[in-house]
Amino acid sequence: IRVLFATSEVFPLVKTGGLGDVSASLPKALCRSGVDCQVLLPGYPQAIRAAREAGARRRVRFRLGQYDVALWRTRLPDATVTLWLVDCPALFDRDGDSPYQDDQGRDWWDNAHRFHLFGRVGAMFALGQLGLPWQPDVVHCNDWQTGLIPVLLAESPHRPASVFTIHNLAYQGLFSHETFRALGLPDHLWSLHSLEFHGQLSFIKGGLVYSDAITTVSPGYAREIQTLPFGYGLDGLLRYRSGQLHGILNGIDDQLWDPQTDPWLDFHFGPARPGDKEQCRVLLQRELALEASARPLFGFVGRLVEQKGLDWLLEVIPPLVNQGCQFAILGSGEPRYQEALRQMARQWPEQLSLTLGYNEGLAHRITAGADLFLMPSRFEPCGLNQMYSLRYGTLPVVHGVGGLADTVFDPTETAPDRANGFVFRNDSTQGLMTAIERALATRSSIRTWRQLQHNGMTGDYSWKLRAGEYARLYHHLMASDCPAND
Ligand code: ADP
Ligand code: GLC
Repeated sequence: IRVLFATSEVFPLVKTGGLGDVSASLPKALCRSGVDCQVLLPGYPQAIRAAREAGARRRVRFRLGQYDVALWRTRLPDATVTLWLVDCPALFDRDGDSPYQDDQGRDWWDNAHRFHLFGRVGAMFALGQLGLPWQPDVVHCNDWQTGLIPVLLAESPHRPASVFTIHNLAYQGLFSHETFRALGLPDHLWSLHSLEFHGQLSFIKGGLVYSDAITTVSPGYAREIQTLPFGYGLDGLLRYRSGQLHGILNGIDDQLWDPQTDPWLDFHFGPARPGDKEQCRVLLQRELALEASARPLFGFVGRLVEQKGLDWLLEVIPPLVNQGCQFAILGSGEPRYQEALRQMARQWPEQLSLTLGYNEGLAHRITAGADLFLMPSRFEPCGLNQMYSLRYGTLPVVHGVGGLADTVFDPTETAPDRANGFVFRNDSTQGLMTAIERALATRSSIRTWRQLQHNGMTGDYSWKLRAGEYARLYHHLMASDCPAND
């Protein structure tokens, strides 16, 4: 079975969050399980540069409206997966590391044009209109940036099946009616049953209305998005499509995230000797100029946005610092959160370290060196950091939503051989604080702590089984009444 995996991020070429990780690790796992999965990505400058350095070349060139477009065929840096790049310098050759924003953090003014073109090329590729020797049976789209692909495929009689994965329903790709017209999309798509959403053009609705199957990245989130509080106005549509909506838990790349071999760490440890992890903590404290102390060290790595529960986090920090706890925080995001954290780092330099920006190595060292990892997310489609933490013997403290509730199990709710972290369900600062207090109390009972660490470190978070669920879905779509099989 041949699958074209269309995505706007793929690690290590371009990544703003978990989508980048999943777009690298899932295709790799699918290829290993016998699915011929190839990735399609916009030709951002860093991706084109890497392709050139790898000796790749353009396969086809063509004109699409006002744009010159070329398609490159190369491989992902670890060489196992084929990568196609949609090279359109007018739209993708932009400064900065972000695929969506300029250096000031403003969305590119022409994002609708950029991802419309990406979608058009994806659809042409899938329909065999580019004269390439390889044509997919299934197109697997991810998040709003690829939402127009199922729309553009829908009316072709001999099309491949389409799957649309929701990684985050909060980002929808909303644009004005003027933009809809400027893109030249046919008038009939401007309807409540199609791309129109409260007077705006919605890219994500394209994926939700027109794909043959919808998936999201955990069973918990699949249930939540069908309800009002988590549905962002799309819960009705998702309930209507519930028969084609599947929750498949994300896996992690357990080779990149392995405390026994992690190249970002100077000291390694594993489930047989979790105590050796102490050394990573000492090194982390030194690296971040935190006081050398045995008091609990909390880690946080992530986007500094409301989704990640920053409001709750900011409120629990002062009392915990006053008890002697330490914090290692890495992230970037909204200025109001960055400023509040900066203030705290100035106030308690030996207890709270803040690193603003993106830093892959430090993310690994915080995951390894912290005692507890905080993820008080308001909502979390899946979340990868809690699984990384579990593998590294760092106990997660999480809000019991979405994929967090599907992967972290609290000792008060689970059998001792399954518990691996701390979960709060009360949506409040107090809820988070109560879970943290339970975690701190548990830390003084070394046997229970070690048991939780052991359960976490020996869990299977890999793609092995989870990729199989995607493969089964692809086969099911192929076997069912898809236009592809007419
Ligand atoms: P989301 O996709 O919502 O941001 P996930 O938990 O799924 O959340 O994935 C986030 C990924 O991005 C993880 O691999 C995390 O380590 C990484 N990450 C987030 N912020 C940073 C940062 N500032 N530096 C390094 N890695 C980061
Ligand atoms: C999104 C979600 C996150 C998920 C990631 C990968 O960014 O916010 O929860 O883990 O996508 O699917």
